[in-house]
Amino acid sequence: MKGFTISLYLLALNMRLSSAVPRPQYPDGAELYFLEDNPEGSSVVSISIGRDGKLSQPHHTATGGKGFGIQGSNGELISAGLHSQDALVVDGPWLLTLNSGSNTVSLFQIPEHDPARPVLTGKPISTGGEYPNTVALSARHRLACVVNSGAIPGLQCYSISKTGSLEPLGKLKPLQVNEPTPPPGAPGTVSDIVFNPSQTAIFITVKGDGSNNNTTPGYIYAFPLINGVPSDKPVISRPPQLHADFALTFISDRRAAIADTSFGAALLDISSDFKVSVSRTIEVIGQKATCWIKYVPEYDVVFLGDGGVSNITALDARSGDIKYVVPFLAEAGGSFDFAFLGNFLYTRRGNSAVSVIDLQDSNKKGDQQLPKIVELYNTSSLGAAANFNGMAIFSY
Ligand SMILES: *[C@@H]1O[C@H](CO)[C@@H](O)[C@H](O)[C@H]1NC(C)=O
Ligand SMILES: *[C@@H]1O[C@H](CO)[C@@H](O)[C@H](O)[C@H]1NC(C)=O
Ligand SMILES: *[C@@H]1O[C@H](CO)[C@@H](O)[C@H](O)[C@H]1NC(C)=O
Repeated sequence: MKGFTISLYLLALNMRLSSAVPRPQYPDGAELYFLEDNPEGSSVVSISIGRDGKLSQPHHTATGGKGFGIQGSNGELISAGLHSQDALVVDGPWLLTLNSGSNTVSLFQIPEHDPARPVLTGKPISTGGEYPNTVALSARHRLACVVNSGAIPGLQCYSISKTGSLEPLGKLKPLQVNEPTPPPGAPGTVSDIVFNPSQTAIFITVKGDGSNNNTTPGYIYAFPLINGVPSDKPVISRPPQLHADFALTFISDRRAAIADTSFGAALLDISSDFKVSVSRTIEVIGQKATCWIKYVPEYDVVFLGDGGVSNITALDARSGDIKYVVPFLAEAGGSFDFAFLGNFLYTRRGNSAVSVIDLQDSNKKGDQQLPKIVELYNTSSLGAAANFNGMAIFSY
């Protein structure tokens, strides 16, 4: 409890120091969000976070668009699966997400005093391509970006006006993606779009296409920002060790970690001109589909989420060594996107839940202390777990 209050306080202090907008000295609370990418009509699911880290009071807000529907065996419409991280992101006061079936993005403003009910800033706007599956947002640059991963692939960015309307910045920037709409599987699709920590470039990962017995390298694109706008000339890297380049998380401007579904994860070096190389690969024994990844600076740990394995693997961010494994009962299902606040790591689970783990004692030396499982918050009443994508937190 105390640690949580202190970290929240530090967080608020950081926000005050880094932002011109005055902030309350003590944050009142926090809200967790993810996308329900539903062919019948998508929504943002918001759930309140208590001071004890626990979840309550779920709420749906329509995005004004739809997920991509494919016919299921009983004739029902099922989502096609986004194969991505960061389908929904928050950079206060904004929340950005996508509508994979409508080829649009939806920008919301989060009301400080009612964060459970984000407000659409306008009608969803075209992504300029097909099958958008990942987004990025910078409040500092007033920049929103989306990547399309279907038959018309590419990066589209927008400037965010004072009133929150999205103005397209140039045309769709092409990417090497050869997929129909919707893509039939994960190989060859876009995985993630993220800013580096100093927000001088935006990075996009694309999985290898599965050819040559799954050994063809994927792509890592870096679009340098020029006056806060992504350049038309990306720096493209294809480290040969990576075959299913999935989600990316930055440790610093010069180091990052990436999930690779074919073996686990890798540590990356990034040059001053944004070229990416692998400094170490980390084989995770027994892994099935390591797709999701999150660096948590407070603990200097990189968490790996596996869609087919319930345990969460934690890497030491410096060495890349496996530091510990958080065991979960197989019934929880795999681990999908992550979000972090205070001492608490939130993970969506394949079997309709969000797990909350407390990392507070996990840094003790000697007898290794595993993080405590605080809660498995069942989300089955909120929609089909297969439709849930992305995860982000806003604290206030
Ligand atoms: C394909 O890769 C798998 C796993 O690495 C390996 O066991 C198999 O021998 C490979 N097949 C061919 C035809 O190279
Ligand atoms: C998960 O962790 C438990 C406890 O350490 C272990 O028994 C189990 O084998 C692990 N499961 C996998 C798939 O690694
Ligand atoms: C959540 O509830 C559903 C419906 O009761 C159940 O099938 C599922 O196993 C529960 N998930 C977890 C992780 O307990």
